[in-house]
Amino acid sequence: MTSVAVVGTQWGDEGKGKVVDLLTEEADLVVRFQGGNNAGHTLVVGAETYALHLIPSGILHPGKAALIGNGVVVDPDVLIGEIEALRSRGVEVNPRQLTVSASAHVIMPYHKALDAARESPLPGPGGEGRVFIGTTGRGIGPAYEDKASRQGLRMRDLLDPAAFAARAKAALLEKNALFTALYGIPAMGLPELEALRAGWAAKLAPFIGDARPALWKAVREGRHVLFEGAQGAQLDIDHGTYPYVTSSTTLSGGICGGSGTAPRDIGTVLGLVKAYTSRVGEGPFPTEITGPAGDALREAGREYGTTTGRPRRCGHLDAVAVRTAAALCGITSLAVTKLDVLSGLGPLKIARAYRLDGSEIDFMPQDIRDLERCEPVYWDYAGFAEDISRARLITDLPKGAREYLEGVEELCGAPLGLVSVGPERGETIILESFF
Ligand code: IMP
Repeated sequence: MTSVAVVGTQWGDEGKGKVVDLLTEEADLVVRFQGGNNAGHTLVVGAETYALHLIPSGILHPGKAALIGNGVVVDPDVLIGEIEALRSRGVEVNPRQLTVSASAHVIMPYHKALDAARESPLPGPGGEGRVFIGTTGRGIGPAYEDKASRQGLRMRDLLDPAAFAARAKAALLEKNALFTALYGIPAMGLPELEALRAGWAAKLAPFIGDARPALWKAVREGRHVLFEGAQGAQLDIDHGTYPYVTSSTTLSGGICGGSGTAPRDIGTVLGLVKAYTSRVGEGPFPTEITGPAGDALREAGREYGTTTGRPRRCGHLDAVAVRTAAALCGITSLAVTKLDVLSGLGPLKIARAYRLDGSEIDFMPQDIRDLERCEPVYWDYAGFAEDISRARLITDLPKGAREYLEGVEELCGAPLGLVSVGPERGETIILESFF
C-alpha cells in the first residue's frame, strides 16, 4: 500500500504535526480531509517553530504537494494569513504545491459570530438547558451545519461574484434574524461580505481547483499519499463523546468522503497516541487528573492549545479510548508521542478497562451518560526519570520506559510503529517503514 493515514486516537493534540512532518519526507502528496483551523500543529524544524492550522504541514518540504480536501472547512483569512506568513519566512507556497478543493466549504464571518454567540450566555431569559461545548470559536460547527443544510458557500463560489452574493444574501436572512432576535448581536450586511469575497478571491483564486484528479493520479501511479487527520477519534461527530465533539468525521473513514478517496486506497492507518491524555473544552474525561499532579503534567507537556492558548485538561493514558479508536479506524500501528514528558513524573498508570455498573468493559460506551458513570481500572507502572531524548532504538530506553511502552502496546490493541522522545524531528524511535 502506498498511502498512510495519520489519525488521532484521543481528544486531539496527540502531536500529529511532528509525525506528519516526519512522514512527509517520504510522501509525494499530503491531504487534509476534515476539520478546519480548529486544528493546530506546532512544528519544530531546527531553530524555527511553525504553527499551522489549515495548510498541511507537508508544505514545509520543498517539492511536495498539499491538498486541502472538500471535507475541510476553510476560513479564507486564515488560509491567506498562513500562506503569507510562510512566504515571509522563505517557505515557497505556490499553486503547483497547494490546491484547495473548490468544494471545500467557506467559514463565513457569520459562522464565527454564531459559534461565539452559542458559547455565551443569552442577553435575556430562557437560556436554561443550553449546552456549552467549549469550542475553539472558529465557526467550525456553524459552517458544517450550513453544508449539511445546503446553505453553505463553497470555495468555488468565491470566484463567482453573482452566485456568492445571492447565496450570502439568503444565508444572512436567517443568520441576522437569529443575531438580532435571539443573541442580541448586530446584523451583518451583504456589502461587507462582498468586499471580503473580492479580497479573498484576489489572493486565493490560483489555489482553488478540483483536488481529486491529482489524488487519483497519485494513487494510480503508486505514489506516496499521506492523509493528515485533525482532532481525534473521541471528538468524532458520531463516535466521540457527543455532544462534546467537533462537527466532522475525524476517523479514517472520513478520508473517503472528505477527499474523494476509495476505501481500498487507504493503506496503513497510523494511530497517534500521546503517552498520556489531554482534552480541551467540556465533556467527560475518565482518566483526568485534577489538582497539583494534573498541573505538573500540563506544565511538563506544555499542554496549552496551539489554536486558542487554553490550558488543556490532563490525565493518565486511557487505553480503553485508544482501543476503541483502533477498532473504529482500523489502526495498523501506533505512534506514541511525548513519552519524554513522563520522565520524572513518578509512577505511571494506564487505564486498561472501565468499571460500569459492577462489570468491566473494554470499549468506550457510545453514550456519555454511561461514560460519565465509568470508573477507570488501572495498571500501575514504575515510571522513569532519565532523559530519553537521545534514544533512537527501544533498547536505548531505560527499563521503566520500556515497560510502559509494553503496556501501551498490550493494552491499546495495535503494535508500536514509532515513538517520539522529543519535539525535534530526529528525536524519534522508528520501528517500521510506513510507506
Ligand atoms: P470546534 O471544533 O471548534 O467546534 O470545538 C468542538 C470541540 O472540539 C471542543 O471541545 C474543542 O476544544 C475540540 N477541538 C476542536 N479542535 C481541536 C483540536 O485540534 N485539538 C483538540 N481539541 C479540539
